[in-house]
Amino acid sequence: MDSRPIGVFDSGIGGISLMRNMIRLLPGEDFIYYGDEKHAPYGTKSEEEILALSLNVVDFLLKHDVKAIVIACNTATSAAAKPLRSSLSLPIIGIEPALKPAQLERKNGGIAVLATPATLRQNKFLSLMKLYGEGAIPVPCPGLMEFVERGITEGEELDVFLNKTLEPLKEIELDGAVLGCTHYSFLARAISKALRGVRLYDGNEGTARQLKRVLEEKGLLSVKQKGTVSLYTSSDSSAAIALMQTLLLKPIEL
Ligand code: DGL
Repeated sequence: MDSRPIGVFDSGIGGISLMRNMIRLLPGEDFIYYGDEKHAPYGTKSEEEILALSLNVVDFLLKHDVKAIVIACNTATSAAAKPLRSSLSLPIIGIEPALKPAQLERKNGGIAVLATPATLRQNKFLSLMKLYGEGAIPVPCPGLMEFVERGITEGEELDVFLNKTLEPLKEIELDGAVLGCTHYSFLARAISKALRGVRLYDGNEGTARQLKRVLEEKGLLSVKQKGTVSLYTSSDSSAAIALMQTLLLKPIEL
């Protein structure tokens, strides 16, 4: 048993969508969440830059004596999970696009995979494609996470952006769409509308369950009844924390 907190980070507020699943599944745990807003977006940066930024955030979390780290960002997982696992002894949990569950339920149609350009070009995703990529259509969505960072999760500006970005999918019969960036879960309703109500998948529940499994295996679960959530941002504006608090409570419909 271990009552130290779990460190969680993302390039911004997207990881709050995963926080919600983790808090639900592990209500007795303390969480320290860090959104690196100052350096967002990660998804249009190089692998080297994403790794360097991730290592900085991990340093911050380690100073808070965390017992495990959750990379609540598909982009940072691809660039930093491996190096972090080889240099640190505490559990590192990452998130990846939920292509496997989407593939298992696929019939004859395609599966759109919406993610950042960096996630889609990195080896981690290319390996996932080799295993579960039949019928998958990767769609890079640069500019999309910025809507969530601005607190916009619906409305005309977003709809116009989505219709343009998802234009290549227009003529394709889809069985599902994977939200391969933690920010996109907050846009589920708008994305579903743009893709004619197709079934959406995100990796949040699977990742929360993986965290629970690892904590159980290693005897690291907290014995408390009710945990706490501490929110941090690298942004100079306090609006980021207020938005995190709002999004922690916002319903997500997948
Ligand atoms: N939320 C992040 C992800 O899951 C990335 C957003 C970004 O910084 O580009 O990939």
